[in-house]
Amino acid sequence: MRSVIDIVDLSVEELDALMKTACDIIDNPEKYQEVCRHKKLATLFFEPSTRTRLSFEAAMYELGGNVISVSSANNSSAAKGESVADTAKTVSCYADIIAMRHPKEGAALVASRAASIPVINAGDGGHNHPTQTLADLLTIYREKGGMDNLTIGLCGDLKFGRTVHSLINAMSRYKNVKFVLISPEELKVPSYVKKDVLQRNRIPYYQTTDLEDAIGDLDILYMTRVQRERFFNEEDYLRLKDSYILTPQKLNNAREDLCIMHPLPRVNEISVAIDGDPRACYFKQVANGKYMRMALILKLLKEAGTI
Ligand code: NCD
Repeated sequence: MRSVIDIVDLSVEELDALMKTACDIIDNPEKYQEVCRHKKLATLFFEPSTRTRLSFEAAMYELGGNVISVSSANNSSAAKGESVADTAKTVSCYADIIAMRHPKEGAALVASRAASIPVINAGDGGHNHPTQTLADLLTIYREKGGMDNLTIGLCGDLKFGRTVHSLINAMSRYKNVKFVLISPEELKVPSYVKKDVLQRNRIPYYQTTDLEDAIGDLDILYMTRVQRERFFNEEDYLRLKDSYILTPQKLNNAREDLCIMHPLPRVNEISVAIDGDPRACYFKQVANGKYMRMALILKLLKEAGTI
């Protein structure tokens, strides 16, 4: 059974095909209105979420399907001590596909091994978040007209930010991409990502703590929230939380065609004064995320022979 746990579970050709489907959905929504009729998506969210859960649910409704949902760990059998594997086996009896978010790294993988239906990882701890990356890729494609020859600045919590890890993995597979990794010392990209992805694929990158110094080089600036829930102590979080705040003044040296992204939720990282700037793309990412999730649900249900 095909599941998507990591962005590398999808080949570059498949990513491109998903973007093509998403663009077709945007242009011809009526073609897709009934394709998942009588099919059910189960959203199992054991960690807070607004966008990801609602966009999966909106995606399934727009495909004509239905949704059943666990929206927090507290009101499910997880609170009674049920294992992820048992939950996945149980939900396989009710639904055709699962989208799962869990605070533990690897939880979606465990679920996919136990389930008899496709599982989509909607975020596992500080590890991966492949469908946010699908949203990011479509945004880059639509804003930049392609995926190659881009310098991408990632700024903020690059250690615990799972969207960052998945995006590095995905963009490393396109041509002539460079990364600028902007973070406090304590929140640098984990060494397994640097070694296994950047160095192994000979992707040029440099690390810096200085956003203003780097901003002029960038085609894309991907801001991220400091991941409070993954810190071991509140003091460190308080010290680091406002490390980077993008203001209109900091954009002085930025390119006219810079694309400013953020997976959201935003706390303080981007001043609201930037929201009206034509370079602000973070709410476009939200819209693109729904279309990419529609494309992914379609693909996995087709491959499973469900539709
Ligand atoms: C992200 C996540 O959950 O990792 N949110 C999202 O799904 N768009 C980013 C974050 O929580 O900071």
